[in-house]
Amino acid sequence: MLEQLQAIEEEALAALEAASDEEALKAWSSRYIGKKGAVTQVLRGMGGLPAEERPRMGKAANEAKVRLEAAYEQRAEQVEAEALARDLAAGAVDISLPGRTRKRGGLHPSTRTLRRFYEIWGDMGFQVYRSRDVELDDINFTALNIPPHHPARDMQDTFYTTDEGVILRTHTSPGQIHAMRELGADGTQPIRVILPGMCYRYEQITARSEVQFHQVEGLVVGRNIRMSDLKGTITEFAKRMFNPSAQVRFRASYFPFTEPSMEIDVECFLCAGKGCNVCKYTGWLEIAGCGMVNPVVLRNGGYDPSEWSGFAFGMGPERITMLKHGITDIRYFWGNDLRFLEQF
Ligand code: DAH
Repeated sequence: MLEQLQAIEEEALAALEAASDEEALKAWSSRYIGKKGAVTQVLRGMGGLPAEERPRMGKAANEAKVRLEAAYEQRAEQVEAEALARDLAAGAVDISLPGRTRKRGGLHPSTRTLRRFYEIWGDMGFQVYRSRDVELDDINFTALNIPPHHPARDMQDTFYTTDEGVILRTHTSPGQIHAMRELGADGTQPIRVILPGMCYRYEQITARSEVQFHQVEGLVVGRNIRMSDLKGTITEFAKRMFNPSAQVRFRASYFPFTEPSMEIDVECFLCAGKGCNVCKYTGWLEIAGCGMVNPVVLRNGGYDPSEWSGFAFGMGPERITMLKHGITDIRYFWGNDLRFLEQF
């Protein structure tokens, strides 16, 4: 039986030399070392041997199998290398041809700014609260201390739907009411959230105004929230968003839902406050509106304003993106022009 094994091995090695392509190699493998191959047959036939001969025979057969497998691997590599060399010689593979570069997708500039906002506000302990795009007139205006016929409604031209009292939100501020009612648990729990989302205004589209744009609202409600908390928080945000030495100033303003109200300017980061055409030579850029939550609004959110206070702010990520990248026309944002989008 040993001789038989030896003969098989010799025959197999000779046949392997002759196998010169992938198909022949496959056939060789199943013929000699496969499950039904010759070496396996020898192992199977061992049943008929006297018990004392079986170990020696088994060992020899296994060793032969290992040798044949190694020879196969080597031959397979050789065959592959020969095939490649033939292709190269025939010019089928042009290794001097430059690779095809893949076009990589990119995030929309607004998405990038929003994600930076989430990162910064998240680090400062703010949760993201998502509010609805389709809103009730009552929540978008009345609950925010803008009653029907109030002149402040003219500040935000509205898209109405065919359903009475249902509109597209003109700002993210109505989310304040939802957040207070949902998270405030009947005016018993403090809140620290940002509310990002798309807003809609029925306006003439120009380089400076679009019918849709993002806002990121912020809302903090607690038992002892003061103006100094508002100023400190906004200043910290500006330093992280723009630069660590950014100067911030607060200007008195008016919003119906905050009292007192302010507008927030950061030192122009394009000219470091020296004055340029982006900041219109003032050295300052307006980035947000803010204020202490009006007691009327707190009450509409379920809080007792004699015990609870809060601050709110609203910023426009597109505007901030425009300032940061020197984008001069807001219409690029939703124009889907790849020449614009591919720059980010
Ligand atoms: N909702 C305002 C707007 O659309 C922005 C704003 C101003 C939001 C002051 C606020 C705030 O929360 O306190 O113009």
